[in-house]
Amino acid sequence: MIVSGVGDSVGGMAAETHVVSDVMSAPVLTAAEDDVLATVGERMMGAGVSSVIVVDDARPVGILTERDLVRFAASGDDARTSVVRDWMTADPDTVEPDSGVAEAYQRLADRGYRHFPVVADGALVGVVSLRDLLSVASIQPVTDPGQIEAPPGLEGVIVAETTVGDVRGQEGFYHYRQYSAVDLAAHVTLEDAWYLLFEGSLPDVTERERFIDEIRPLRAIPDPVIDVLPAIARSSSSIMEGLRSAVSLVGATSDMQATLDIDHAQRRADALRICAVVPTLIMAMYRLRNGEEPIAPRDDLGYGANYLWMMDGTDHDVDVGRAVEQYQMTTIDHGFNASTFTARVICSTGADVGAAVVGGIGALSGPLHGGAPSRALDLLDAIGTEDNARPYLVDAVNNGEKIMGFGHRVYKTDDPRSTFLRGVAERIGAEKIDFAKHVERTVVDVLAELKPGRDLYANVEFYAGVVMDHCGLPRDLFTPTFASSRVIGWCANILEQAADNRIIRPSARYVGPPPPQPLP
Ligand SMILES: CC(C)(COP(=O)(O)OP(=O)(O)OC[C@H]1O[C@@H](n2cnc3c(N)ncnc32)[C@H](O)[C@@H]1OP(=O)(O)O)[C@@H](O)C(=O)NCCC(=O)NCCS
Repeated sequence: MIVSGVGDSVGGMAAETHVVSDVMSAPVLTAAEDDVLATVGERMMGAGVSSVIVVDDARPVGILTERDLVRFAASGDDARTSVVRDWMTADPDTVEPDSGVAEAYQRLADRGYRHFPVVADGALVGVVSLRDLLSVASIQPVTDPGQIEAPPGLEGVIVAETTVGDVRGQEGFYHYRQYSAVDLAAHVTLEDAWYLLFEGSLPDVTERERFIDEIRPLRAIPDPVIDVLPAIARSSSSIMEGLRSAVSLVGATSDMQATLDIDHAQRRADALRICAVVPTLIMAMYRLRNGEEPIAPRDDLGYGANYLWMMDGTDHDVDVGRAVEQYQMTTIDHGFNASTFTARVICSTGADVGAAVVGGIGALSGPLHGGAPSRALDLLDAIGTEDNARPYLVDAVNNGEKIMGFGHRVYKTDDPRSTFLRGVAERIGAEKIDFAKHVERTVVDVLAELKPGRDLYANVEFYAGVVMDHCGLPRDLFTPTFASSRVIGWCANILEQAADNRIIRPSARYVGPPPPQPLP
């Protein structure tokens, strides 16, 4: 094994320059040779440590670890009469506080130890574990020196080439193919953007008509699925959960084949079917959960208006329908976000389109990804009044809470989706808009004070909740509505992945006990 730095530096210091005293634990839990094991075991559990250093005055004479206690437990002896001396490792190897981390790791690894007492001038000053050393060093097997250490969360790591779109975090800009996504949301329909993502260019009049004729019939829920939808709706704890099962069934009943075994035309057909039926499934699931019959889609309505129609069977104001559609357009695609990456990973195994979309739905359902908009609105409710905004937020941040609807992995400036949706909310006269703008300003100020240098601003979820709330969508439909159009982005990525595929299969660094250990 070799030890090298993680990137250039760790905690402001090059990993190679770390010494043991930087990472060791002190003070140390100690015991005497004559202490009985029952007492020492209890003290180890109480302190939450897996080793105790046995000392004579301050001089380490042994080390007793969890492994020794396991050996002892296997012996069947009485812990109240057995003493540490008989079970410890005597004269343990020690390390000095100014030894290099790399050297200390090497010695631990070579000898199969997990802990070193740290000793200065013959006296115990700390203990260092394999885990402590690994926290500042990247371990690479010499047999595979080509391995690359990725940062936690894969931040900033490029894992594929794509022509679907991209996010420029520093500029606050993102695009679908070659067009600004916000410009598309402002000026074209969702179906046009969908065509763009699937075909690579915006449609002309004929192409648009042909595309709409192609997708309309695909919006109907297949009969075998509609038969079991009430049972799925009853047994799911959320619409996202039900949607996952329903999409899985659509894949199965449409006989979707492994992407590896079919050509682009067939993969595209599978992708179109899923993208078209997802909004219908969402609204059917919503109504069934409320004890109502699903409503079939209408051909004479725009994308957003039809979505609202399937929710409650009423005609909504044209501007309200368009506002929902614009929200759906802003969320179609957004770089290698967690759900898109998930969908591509699944597709890279050659699995069918349905399987890849089901994975995407699972990833999107998490609160750190698509599960935030209802929580952002809950935040507005919890704050209640403008005067309460600052004290509430200061308290929350000081308690280590994340403010929902703020912060982004890629944007270090205003999220263009949030700016756009703030404009949409103003245009439609959303009730909560003035209060939301006050809260946004306060959150940005509070985070700048309490989390300086993190560049935290409102993300797409903050104003999404305000817009959807005004348009009559209840909170349990917020994340599903995100999914209703993100599915198009997933599918564009799935088609791209399948067209030029290599299985996505990274590595992990093993940090457990050195193998092989003897079986207990
Ligand atoms: C979106 C998000 C998951 C990005 O995560 P990330 O890139 O891994 O960033 P981190 O969670 O590591 O945050 C970096 C720092 O900013 C802080 N931070 C990030 N978002 C924050 C938020 N919304 N409120 C308070 N602090 C926040 C973190 O506490 C962390 O501080 P630290 O350096 O003291 O540990 C994160 O900002 C978040 O959880 N936001 C709230 C949930 C949300 O709105 N999700 C929807 C995303 S579209």
